[in-house]
Amino acid sequence: MPDRPYTLLSCGMSLDGFLDDASDQRLLLSNDADFDRVDEVRAGSDAILVGAATVRNDDPRLLVRSPERVAHRRTAGRPAQPLKVTVTNRAKLDPGARFFAAGTGPKLVYCASDTVDMASGELSAVATVIDGGAPVEMRRVSEDLHARGVRRLMVEGGGQVHTQFLGEDLADELQLVVAPLFVGRPEATRFVGPGHYPWSASRRARLVETRPIGDVVLLRYALSERFGLAW
Ligand SMILES: NC(=O)c1ccc[n+]([C@@H]2O[C@H](COP(=O)([O-])OP(=O)(O)OC[C@H]3O[C@@H](n4cnc5c(N)ncnc54)[C@H](OP(=O)(O)O)[C@@H]3O)[C@@H](O)[C@H]2O)c1
Repeated sequence: MPDRPYTLLSCGMSLDGFLDDASDQRLLLSNDADFDRVDEVRAGSDAILVGAATVRNDDPRLLVRSPERVAHRRTAGRPAQPLKVTVTNRAKLDPGARFFAAGTGPKLVYCASDTVDMASGELSAVATVIDGGAPVEMRRVSEDLHARGVRRLMVEGGGQVHTQFLGEDLADELQLVVAPLFVGRPEATRFVGPGHYPWSASRRARLVETRPIGDVVLLRYALSERFGLAW
């Protein structure tokens, strides 16, 4: 079986399990100390993957912010910034989005086969567009990233992407931050959707750390035998 990167899922959610509040404003679930922790995890990653809805809704930069961490990556002979990766079926992405515009490093867009030509036309100046299959399969994405040299993949959401990585047993570690607030809106995005997950009452995930960080708490779960190998 082809190999895949060590894969860490990173996510902040409300006490009632939501990733956002369905408003036009980005919901800040974390705090400064936790953003810095996430920056450190990013700095240890070869690539960061998010779903296209997160690119559209949040317009994230997905860059390592700390100059010291960037310098450390350079000293270690690594690219200054992790590779940025997204997946899309519809290929409706703005080439001016910060995902593409921020940072000089490469960006990859895994696109469904039937929209790959359209995506190439609109995005080829700012990203490498890759036929990810019909539909895009996360295992294929993972294996292709590994073939491109990615050994440590950080997945930063949103819910559809987390659902697939967890449901397809493609994750080695989950870093889940719980914020002390409720969202309570059924139209908001949940951490994960319905699915068949490998972890159940008969196969419980292994909790390896709980860490209060100001008013949030980090829960770290080992999801595979590879836990901890790469971080
Ligand atoms: N709290 C946090 O830590 C956190 C982190 C990230 C995001 N978020 C929130 O999460 C929300 C977005 O989550 P979401 O679940 O709606 O979306 P998402 O997972 O970010 O992205 C879903 C989109 O990704 C593409 N996609 C996903 N799986 C695919 C596949 N197998 N093949 C091809 N394309 C695929 C599709 O894009 P197309 O529609 O382009 O086809 C799909 O609509 C945002 O509002 C954001 O604020 C929160």
